Amino acid sequence: MPSFYALVIGASSAIAQAAIKQFEADQDCLGVFAVSRSLPSVAESSKTQWLESDYSETSIQQICKNLSPYSGKISKVLICNGILHDESIMPERKLEEIRASQLEAVFHTNTIIPMLWLSQLLPILHSNQATQVALFSARIGSISDNKTGGWYSYRASKAALNMLIQTSSVEYARRAKNVKLIAFHPGTTDTPLSKPFQRSVPKDKLFTADFVATQLLSIMNNVPMDNKAAYLDWNNQAIEW
Ligand SMILES: NC(=O)c1ccc[n+]([C@@H]2O[C@H](COP(=O)([O-])OP(=O)(O)OC[C@H]3O[C@@H](n4cnc5c(N)ncnc54)[C@H](OP(=O)(O)O)[C@@H]3O)[C@@H](O)[C@H]2O)c1
Repeated sequence: MPSFYALVIGASSAIAQAAIKQFEADQDCLGVFAVSRSLPSVAESSKTQWLESDYSETSIQQICKNLSPYSGKISKVLICNGILHDESIMPERKLEEIRASQLEAVFHTNTIIPMLWLSQLLPILHSNQATQVALFSARIGSISDNKTGGWYSYRASKAALNMLIQTSSVEYARRAKNVKLIAFHPGTTDTPLSKPFQRSVPKDKLFTADFVATQLLSIMNNVPMDNKAAYLDWNNQAIEW
């Protein structure tokens, strides 16, 4: 594989952390840019440069400007941001639990922030080199697969993200032909995001972040570069949109 730089956005995510470790160990990877709301107290590897962002449009624009010397050289991008719950949010089980504030907060992190990155990254990803962008979606965002209902904000934010990925892929195919956009479902993974919901998950269906990162990087290396968005799970199986 030709040498490359990696960009990991939402780098505090447990899956992102595992992916960063794997990039650092990869001899073909010349460096990793890790973007997060907060910087780690100790930066463990000289290969990774941490960049702080509040994910405002201004901050995203500034980071993309700073990355412009690496245009055409960043060929692996992970956009990991996503919330399911926090101190004031739990997934809604019924219509009475719908709150505008929750819909707005979840859409902002899960849909709007990834889209702002897709919008600003286009000139940086314009390249002769095959480039893959994995945006962390979820199977629950599949409209055709919605059998159980519930989890309104999270489900709809990922469905909207999927639509934005599809729509962006049409334009990327024209303006940055060597870029493949992947809506990625990691499977239920042992991270803070899934912690409150792990009890009902059989042990062999709860993945480690390391396992999921290995699967994702392998999928990115082998995915067909066909100018179409793909919606793939951790096992490289296509999910119906
Ligand atoms: N774990 C699972 O079972 C599972 C299943 C399906 C899909 N996913 C998806 O996988 C992705 C990674 O999740 P994870 O399991 O690794 O979770 P995690 O360890 O809890 O990571 C949370 C991620 O969300 C970002 N984030 C949290 N609050 C935010 C806010 N207010 N504004 C902007 N960014 C915020 C963090 O970015 P910073 O680095 O900036 O803090 C980090 O990238 C998410 O998109 C999630 O929806 C996870």
